[in-house]
Amino acid sequence: MSVSTLSADPINQANKPLRIAVLVSGSGSNLQVLIDAMQAGSLPIEIVGVISNREDAYAITRAQDANIPIAVLSHVAKGKRMGIKTFESHANDQLTVWQPDLIVLAGFMRVLSAGFIDNAPAPMINLHPSLLPVYKGLDTHQRAIQAGERHHGCSIHVVTAELDAGAVLTQALLEVAQKDTADSLQARVQKLEHQLLPWTIMLIAKDILNINQLTTQNNGAKSANLPALPLKLWLNG
Ligand code: GRF
Repeated sequence: MSVSTLSADPINQANKPLRIAVLVSGSGSNLQVLIDAMQAGSLPIEIVGVISNREDAYAITRAQDANIPIAVLSHVAKGKRMGIKTFESHANDQLTVWQPDLIVLAGFMRVLSAGFIDNAPAPMINLHPSLLPVYKGLDTHQRAIQAGERHHGCSIHVVTAELDAGAVLTQALLEVAQKDTADSLQARVQKLEHQLLPWTIMLIAKDILNINQLTTQNNGAKSANLPALPLKLWLNG
């Protein structure tokens, strides 16, 4: 992500709620956690809009029930596949209207181009179900089990053009049990995700994690004000 797309000002000024846009493809249980926290007032956020690339995603119902604006940019409509460039053009237009401070990919399953990421109207973070940098990509739980990992978990990282490779901000870890299968591990890790995502957004909203600085650091400049990353949550999931 280029620094030129980012505001030089702190991401969240004058205690205004952090405006977030959420991109989804599936069930949206992580979106629901954010909706619940917003409605309960336990997270200083306003979800300004949700984009789904699937018209059958249950996340759409969750957003509608909460009266959150939703854009369905289905990758398959009337039997035709929407190309990534068309998707990105509509998504960028929509995000520009919503003016988020932060874009959150929560279970969003389309790979975005460097051009979209660089020109997005806000920094972007992604929730990934592994302890990055290990197990980028898909089937992370199965691969962790096959490799005999003792620990597994999830990460939140800055989105860059290289898949699952941007600066890792936070991680939540658990111990893999002998009886764990890929399915049980997925369920356990998802419980961690539901804690890690709001925790991370709280750190960003309170400017403890300064996304603008982090992006600058990602580009090679050092800052003395940053905590050592990733910040880790150790949970008995
Ligand atoms: C999460 O488990 C995430 O790790 C993966 O997709 C899942 C999304 O879950 N990338 P949900 O849509 O938030 O329920």
